[in-house]
Amino acid sequence: TANVSSLTNLPTILLVGPSGAGKTALATRMERGPDAQPTETHTTTNNHSIEIETPVPSSSSESPSSSGPSAGEHVKFLLTDTPGHGKLRARVFNRLDAMGENDKGRVRAVVFLCDAAALSDPDSLRHAAAYLHDLLLVLQRRASARIRAGAPLAKCGNPVLVAANKLDLFTALPGTAVKSNLEAEVTRIRASRSKRLLDSGVGADEVGSEAQDDWLGEYASQKFTFEQMGEFGIDIDVIGGNVTGEGPGIEKWWQWMAYRL
Ligand code: GTP
Repeated sequence: TANVSSLTNLPTILLVGPSGAGKTALATRMERGPDAQPTETHTTTNNHSIEIETPVPSSSSESPSSSGPSAGEHVKFLLTDTPGHGKLRARVFNRLDAMGENDKGRVRAVVFLCDAAALSDPDSLRHAAAYLHDLLLVLQRRASARIRAGAPLAKCGNPVLVAANKLDLFTALPGTAVKSNLEAEVTRIRASRSKRLLDSGVGADEVGSEAQDDWLGEYASQKFTFEQMGEFGIDIDVIGGNVTGEGPGIEKWWQWMAYRL
């Protein structure tokens, strides 16, 4: 665990997602290195940061930014594990809002971990999608404010990784289904929230109106897709993996994070 002075100076990756997704299991595994065996986890009740120093894993895929670290280079960052429980969500969003305008200690990226085996259950899907909707809306509002202030698009949003966990379980949905199920459910959530907005008489046509700021993605579109967040400089990738058991493991997530520092 890092001391406080170094905590404030390291780039941060925020690990979020519903309860039971495996956030603490993933954080523990990353802290101990990719080959360590996971240990027992506990229910997280507060944000908890761990310092990770690791060589960037080598792979065939290229870093998305030419300025990013290259394979084999050592990178150091903080991974902040957050509580999944809905009642504690304000703390998670506060951490996003508390991101300083200075570059140090800034949240560089958000990893939204979900249980791909649970997403075929309607209740679990609804929970996960509601969290994702609210998270993306917080990021979109921040990005919109920066866009209006004239900042370049690339600096307005944060990249988001939707990490579909527990692919070791045979009931787990593949990444493509995780994406389409979440998009469909977010579409439903968006529609029901906007109906409430309209019922409350908030003007929907004015550009930059409250209604547009409360609407996720392309305004008034029928169907929500992750690609719509690109308009706000928010790139979303969906990658499957697993913390325990047999499967693709955590390597691709690890790489995604290292490339966004
Ligand atoms: P909260 O702290 O409540 O927000 O949950 P969390 O997201 O931190 O979940 P946690 O790490 O406590 O994991 C929940 C359960 O899922 C634990 O029993 C883990 O062992 C299990 N788990 C985590 N990752 C995997 C995985 O890849 N495959 C399987 N089969 N189980 C996993």
